[in-house]
Order: sequence, then C-alpha cells, then structure tokens
Amino acid sequence: MTSPRRLDWIASPGTPLQGEIDVPGDKSISHRAVMLAALADGTSHVDGFLEGADTRATAAIFAQLGVRIEAPSPSRRIVHGVGVDGLRAPAGVLDCGNAGTGMRLLSGLLAGQAFDSVLAGDASLSRRPMGRVIEPLSRMGAQIEAHDGGLPPLRIHGGRRLRGIEFDSPVASAQVKSAVLLAGLYAAGETSVREPRPTRDYTERMLSAFGVDIDFSPGFARLRGGQRLRSTAIEVPADFSSAAFLIVAATLVPGSELRLRAVGLNPRRTGLLAALRAMGADISEERHASHGGEPVADLVVRHAPLRGIAVPEPLVADMIDEFPILAVAAACAEGSTVVSGAAELRVKESDRIEAMASGLRALGIGVRTRPDGVLIEGGRLAGGAVDSLGDHRIAMAFAVAGQLARGEVAITDVANVATSFPGFDALARQAGLGLRSA
Ligand code: S3P
Repeated sequence: MTSPRRLDWIASPGTPLQGEIDVPGDKSISHRAVMLAALADGTSHVDGFLEGADTRATAAIFAQLGVRIEAPSPSRRIVHGVGVDGLRAPAGVLDCGNAGTGMRLLSGLLAGQAFDSVLAGDASLSRRPMGRVIEPLSRMGAQIEAHDGGLPPLRIHGGRRLRGIEFDSPVASAQVKSAVLLAGLYAAGETSVREPRPTRDYTERMLSAFGVDIDFSPGFARLRGGQRLRSTAIEVPADFSSAAFLIVAATLVPGSELRLRAVGLNPRRTGLLAALRAMGADISEERHASHGGEPVADLVVRHAPLRGIAVPEPLVADMIDEFPILAVAAACAEGSTVVSGAAELRVKESDRIEAMASGLRALGIGVRTRPDGVLIEGGRLAGGAVDSLGDHRIAMAFAVAGQLARGEVAITDVANVATSFPGFDALARQAGLGLRSA
C-alpha cells in the first residue's frame, strides 16, 4: 500500500460541542469480522464495517487469498466464505498497511495454511515488535522468519503441522492472544491462552458467534483445533476509541452537551470512562442495547472541570488506545495526573509516551516520563507546533488540545487518521471543533 499523502492540520478553539454524532464502526471488530467470515462456510453479512485504511487493507488481503467480498455500501460487506481450508496462495506480498491488528492476527491464521505468505506493512508497522507472536506460534510448530530478529516483513512458511499449546502470555495483548487462538483453529488438540491482565475478547466472542466451541472468561481462552466456522451476520458497534476524542472534547469545552449514538461499551474498552469520571467528567449512558452481542449505549457528555488523578493500573489495559486523549484531558485538569504500568504504549503506532510528552511540552505543559508511564501537570495550553509522528490517535488528540489552547496548534502528518477514523475532521467540525487543513 502506498503511504497516504502528507497532510497537516491547524486546530484552534471552535464552538461548544453540540448535537448528536455517529462515529464509525469499531476497528478491532471490523478486522475480525472480515477474517472469520472469510474462513466460514457460507456467506456472512457485516453491517457497520469501518471503512478505514486498516480494515480495508485486511479486506484486500482476503481478496488476494481468494475470498470474494462485496461492498454494497461503505459500511457493509458481504463476505463469501471459503471455509477454514479454502484460502488460496496469494500471488504477491500481503500489505497490512499501518495495522498491527491485521498483521498479528493474520500471522496466526496464515501459520496454519498449506501455502507460504509474506506480511508487510508501512514504515510505522515495520518498526513494531512481532517476536511476541512469532515466539508462541513457533512453539506450535509454525515457521516464521522476521527481519532483524522480530520485525516485519514476516515470511510465513505453510504446510506445517501445528500442535496446540498452553500459552501463558507475558504481555496483556489481545493481538497476541488472537494470533495464538487463530493458529489454534489449525492445530492438533487444544490451544489455551492465559493473560497477565484481561484484554478485549472480540476474537473469542466472534469465534463463538461463528459456531466455534470456545471456552473463555476474562484473561483466559481455550479452543480445540479442527473446528469449522458457520457464516453469520455481524453488526459492528461504533468504535469507543473514536468516540473518546469527542467525549474528551465535549468534557473540556465550556457549554458543550454532545450525544454520541450507540457507542460500543465492551468493558475491556471503556477504562477511559472510569478514569474521566474519577476526574470529575459528566458522562451519562442512555438507551442501553446490544449490537451483535456487544453492549452499546448513547453517551451524553456535558462540560465539566477536571482534576488530576493517579490512574489505577488495572484500568490501563482497558484504555490502552485512549492514552493520547487522556493525556490531553490531564493537561487541562487541575493538578497532576499519573499513569503507570503502561509500557505497551511505547510499541504502538508510535512511542505514544514520547509523542504525547513532546507535543504537550511544545504547548507549555509540564510532563515527566518514565519507562512505563508519565506524570502530567495540568495547566493552560499555549499554541505551538506538534508532530503526530504519523500516528492517528496522536493527531486526533492534539486536534482536541487545540480547542483549549491560547494560540493555534499546528499538527503535522495527520493523513493516517484515515486508518481508524475516516472523516474525523468533518465530523469534528460538525460537532463544533475548530479544525482546518494547513
Ligand atoms: C487491538 C488490541 C490492542 C489495541 C489495538 C487493537 C485488537 O493492541 O491497542 O489498537 O484489535 O486486538 P494489543 O493487543 O497489542 O494491546
């Protein structure tokens, strides 16, 4: 995939956030919906699909693997599954773009195929650690070669006989857990994964929705190899991680009252709600419902002043993608906020601890970093220039910071926002944010 063209933003105070907003579909669920539907027997319908660059990359990879996928509208996919044994050898390299989820889950899925494949990604993905999936998959009998001891591209040798393992994962990572479980579908005997802290369980829930017999509870999952998947219909809820930017913006901008409709509230994703409420935020949940087995609700967010907190460590895994926007909330809170136990942030699309620390410092905020976290002194944001380092969530976090700054905030290299939240700038402007292309 070619890199998106370079794009910069200028963020500055807009108007109070008002109205009702629908954010796009969940990225984690959209990836998995395409993958499992492709492996199923029969045709699956996916509604609410995230039409983002990451998830489109995954869909394009399955097309290369011989799966027919129709897109009757941007948020719908009809996937004509080929069965667990029906994928075809691809003609070329499989390009995961910016997506760690795509690459890690596919490494497990492809390790069990009869053919060889190569997974590659963009510059950011090419710096992200893959040893964490290669190690357990190798123990299952997979043969995977990586660059420089554990970086993409990954050359996955097919035709291996995999065997189930009992894997005690050293990292709290849904991607690692999912890679092992997907390989487990192709392995002899049982495969189980135990995690140091529970992570999002979408792979487990969705395998079960596709008829796979899987045993799971927070922090644990086990399945037997050799099972087939039955096609189904998937309804993808709105992505909490995308909603998070608007939740914090509405909290911070005086006079705001914003409704975010039908947002996914899987408890493994909503740590930010607990942290913001502990900081004094006014966020209520209305119209609770279930979308394809996932809890959803409207979130109604009203402006409220925030105070700093020490974020409880057990919340960290449940808000791992929300650190950039939490850091903006912390910068605007009274007092200091401390995050610890979050070393994983250093191996996301960017080193998110350094990216947020240097950006906030450029806007006049006091930040002290540690290997596994940060201390942020709340204060008044000044204008300035920040580099998103091509990381979608860093770019969107600073777009929100710009709403509170005394001068304009210039944010460079924001094109990757399209990986998870295509149309963020237009939707954010509609809600009230001051944001324009530079
Ligand atoms: C994801 C899991 C998380 C998260 C990422 C999406 C997933 O990564 O940060 O954005 O879809 O499984 P880790 O599992 O590596 O923590």
